[in-house]
Amino acid sequence: MQECIIVEQTHNIEGEISLSGAKNAVLVIMASTLLNSGKNTLRNVPNSEDVLCMINLLEELGAQVNFDQLNKVLEIDTSTVINYKVSPNIMKKMRASVLVMGPLLARFSKTEISLPGGCVLGKRPINYHLDNFKKVGVTFEQSGDYLVGSTNKLLAKRLALEYPSVGATENLMMSAVLTQGKTTIVNAALEPEVLDLIEVLKRMGAKISILPPATIEIEGVNTLNAVEHSILCDRLEAGSLLLAAAITGGNIHIPNASANLLDVFLMKLEEMGHSILIGQNGQSIRLMACKSPKAVSFKTAPYPGFPTDLQAPMLVAQTLAEGVSEIEETVFENRLIHIFELQKMGAKIILENNNKAIITGVKELVGTEVVASDIRASCALVLAGLAANGKTIVKGVHHFKRGYDALDQKLRSLGAQIKIEKQDILQDIPKEKTLEI
Ligand code: EPU
Repeated sequence: MQECIIVEQTHNIEGEISLSGAKNAVLVIMASTLLNSGKNTLRNVPNSEDVLCMINLLEELGAQVNFDQLNKVLEIDTSTVINYKVSPNIMKKMRASVLVMGPLLARFSKTEISLPGGCVLGKRPINYHLDNFKKVGVTFEQSGDYLVGSTNKLLAKRLALEYPSVGATENLMMSAVLTQGKTTIVNAALEPEVLDLIEVLKRMGAKISILPPATIEIEGVNTLNAVEHSILCDRLEAGSLLLAAAITGGNIHIPNASANLLDVFLMKLEEMGHSILIGQNGQSIRLMACKSPKAVSFKTAPYPGFPTDLQAPMLVAQTLAEGVSEIEETVFENRLIHIFELQKMGAKIILENNNKAIITGVKELVGTEVVASDIRASCALVLAGLAANGKTIVKGVHHFKRGYDALDQKLRSLGAQIKIEKQDILQDIPKEKTLEI
């Protein structure tokens, strides 16, 4: 028996729903509380497995954490933090653990994190973090399973990122806020989640400015204070819920969604033929699905381009649209694995060069057993299940629980036939079929 998501075909996802806090903002903001020594209060915290994993990590470092899941309030007391070592069982569960490196280096001049597999000092996947930490005076050595970083004094430097990496920008910024002098990060990521972190850091007392087009300047301060902050609403959850309505011919209203954070995505939904109504100042989005949507093509890109985290669910919408769509994934090298599962459901997709999907819309998908390979693929397969004839069994449910706060319940409240329960399934999930990105 294995826990799975069971989805039955549902027409007309309909109603009003509220978003949870953004996973990709809350994880880094939780890590940033290590920069102060006090009682931080975070509100609008999503109740997802990754948040629980980050709580474990902070507790391992000595923080005292209390999560009021009902009210979504997370209290983190970092005055008791004494440790700078993150154990392998936590690192392996969630790559976002790497985001404690910057705060720990700033607070203790030392960090020890384990890395999942491979040569930890090799190029990928955190070379932008490590190379730039080295430039500001950190030395790294591998000790058993651990990567040990230490510094006598962090240096304020002008740094340039080869690619606007979200995690590297966040990590470097967090070490720089307590580094004497001016640090400049050129070609920085400016995703809304990075901006939410900047707001928190400023509230702690950090001095940060953003210079167009994509430079962050940080003037180091001596100490930072504890904060209270309400986490940004999840634009990726918003996109997924809008797609649930689009795919099922429904009508949805999300009052706390920010349209100004989803411009390119919303433009593509309109290009498909769906009607989008946006509230005053870009706050609140309503989607009324069109009955015969047209296929659209797009490329993922750093913000404000089409978000890679909405590529998989948007791809599902193309499998049922009229015409041919070309989708190019440019952010991650290997983030189209879900197409093989969608093919099992009857989708017509050709993969080119590992990063481009060419999709010819079909009249219907058919429910079957599929495997989710990462968080966003799990959501995509659930959406495909809503549109598919019959029953879809989605395996790899831990990905779904890692990234979303009760998305199954939210969809159910909008009329979706979805439940998570133990099932007798045909096969176990092969290891190579899951990614912890
Ligand atoms: N990269 C490197 N070296 C590095 C860092 C990144 O080569 O040192 C590459 C990555 O392999 C990738 C690209 O640069 O090809 C972009 O990676 P980035 O660092 O921007 O991503 P991240 O910080 O690891 C965050 C989100 C991801 C989201 C990306 C892009 C968190 C916890 N994760 O990852 O979210 O897709 O930014 O927006 O914030 C998800 O939510 O499902 C998810 C994967």
